[in-house]
Amino acid sequence: MEAGRFVGKGMEATLFDNLNHTPTASLTGTVSETIGMTVVVADFPAPVGAVVRVEREAEGPCEGEVVGFRDGRTLVYLQSATAGVRRGNKVRMVRAGRVLKVGEGLLGRVLDAHGTFIDGRPQPLLTGRARIDRQPPPATERPRIREPLSTGVHAIDSLLTCGRGQRLGIFAGSGVGKSVLLGMMTRNTNADVIVTGLIGERGREVNEFLDRDLGVEGMKRSVVVVATSNESALTRLQAASTATAIAEYFRDQGKQVLLLMDSVTRFAMAQREIGLAAGEPPTTRGYPPSMYALLPRLVERAGQTSQGSITAFYTVLVEGDDENEPVADTMRGLLDGHVWLSRKLATRGHYPAIDILSSISRVMKDITSPQHQAAAQTIRKLLSVYAEHEDLLSIGAYRRGSNRTVDVAVEMRDAIETLLRQPIDSAAPYEKVVELLIALAEQCQVRLAAPATSPAIPIQGAAGAATTSGGATQPSAANGTRVAQAAR
Ligand SMILES: Nc1ncnc2c1ncn2[C@@H]1O[C@H](COP(=O)(O)OP(=O)(O)O)[C@@H](O)[C@H]1O
Ligand SMILES: [Mg+2]
Repeated sequence: MEAGRFVGKGMEATLFDNLNHTPTASLTGTVSETIGMTVVVADFPAPVGAVVRVEREAEGPCEGEVVGFRDGRTLVYLQSATAGVRRGNKVRMVRAGRVLKVGEGLLGRVLDAHGTFIDGRPQPLLTGRARIDRQPPPATERPRIREPLSTGVHAIDSLLTCGRGQRLGIFAGSGVGKSVLLGMMTRNTNADVIVTGLIGERGREVNEFLDRDLGVEGMKRSVVVVATSNESALTRLQAASTATAIAEYFRDQGKQVLLLMDSVTRFAMAQREIGLAAGEPPTTRGYPPSMYALLPRLVERAGQTSQGSITAFYTVLVEGDDENEPVADTMRGLLDGHVWLSRKLATRGHYPAIDILSSISRVMKDITSPQHQAAAQTIRKLLSVYAEHEDLLSIGAYRRGSNRTVDVAVEMRDAIETLLRQPIDSAAPYEKVVELLIALAEQCQVRLAAPATSPAIPIQGAAGAATTSGGATQPSAANGTRVAQAAR
């Protein structure tokens, strides 16, 4: 099935079609053993990745996939439990790889990892076919990222501007607002199509995402692929490939696609189950070496081609300050940027809880104007100075007037936060957000340039206009005065 990789596009389609019509059902073997979810099959030379069917008697056939070989026998990982599988059961090869029906009819729909619609609505007409484990486009066929994509999240659009075809990670613990953030993007982005892969979440979380975060508005341009935590590791793994294949289909149609994968950690955990079952040695945290090979394969499939783009956000679960978590570690190296969600901000009610200083967009300088970059730099600097002095400020040990930059960081704090905070149901267009950022940075610059002893300059409420309920712009100079008074 790797054949398509070495031939041109047109030929690939032909080979691919033939492949799926090759009579493979004649290849059979017999079950000789089961280990957990793995069935060991004798006399069965099916290739790795082949879809097979175990002919159980009472329970009916169940599907699985060839994951490896050991001692001359074939290892098959099942889609469902091994209950009912008996020694001597026949195993039949169904297909050399998985194929998905694709088309415009996918829009607005919810599917499972195998492409079956699970939203209770009628099956649409889908004429296209896509292989779910397609190869990433070659590096030479990837134009440079040159244009921004509006995510509809002010903090990202202004300070972590994301480009069409960029791949970013959202690193966060549980309950800090990942799903809400992804939902906001789905509703507010200017991408043509949004494909969301929900991998390994609980059933309740999936419903919550569909009803609360996506809503009718977000669903219109969306396709959602779901594999819940109770499904087999193989199914969870495939959900990521299926979502990516759907995004690839729309990219081939010339669309700007936004791919949201929640979470890539659960995807890696699924591979851990399968890899260990196939006899791989466990490494850090029990992850098998194949996990490290699989993540780049998945991430590389996103990106820009001459037809269209897939801009992708992969969520990565991080609990505590665990720097050595292998999935987070590996993903950081693969991505063109990362967005950290901070529990500290979330507990303060600062949503979206994006920790700007820990986050970065590596393509921002290629896709934004020098003016935008300079403004972002000014705001970052003030945020950083504030963070450095936060302890002193909170105990009132900082005396206003000691340092001009700190004074401005304190004075402008609320105005900056107003730009970065955003209610769930409101969003300003990209251009407007950039305009507000530049205006805010100009105000900061005026203050930075003013002599330390000059009277407080009133803050214009520009930043507050970004949101419909952005009333938080207070005369922050008062803060500074309070701090100074406390220090006396
Ligand atoms: N933008 C936001 N505005 C207000 N509250 C939010 C926002 N984002 C998250 N929350 C709060 O945090 C809770 C958890 O968010 P959720 O996105 O479900 O977390 P996660 O997916 O990271 O587990 C939500 O139920 C909500 O109360
Ligand atoms: Mg969630």
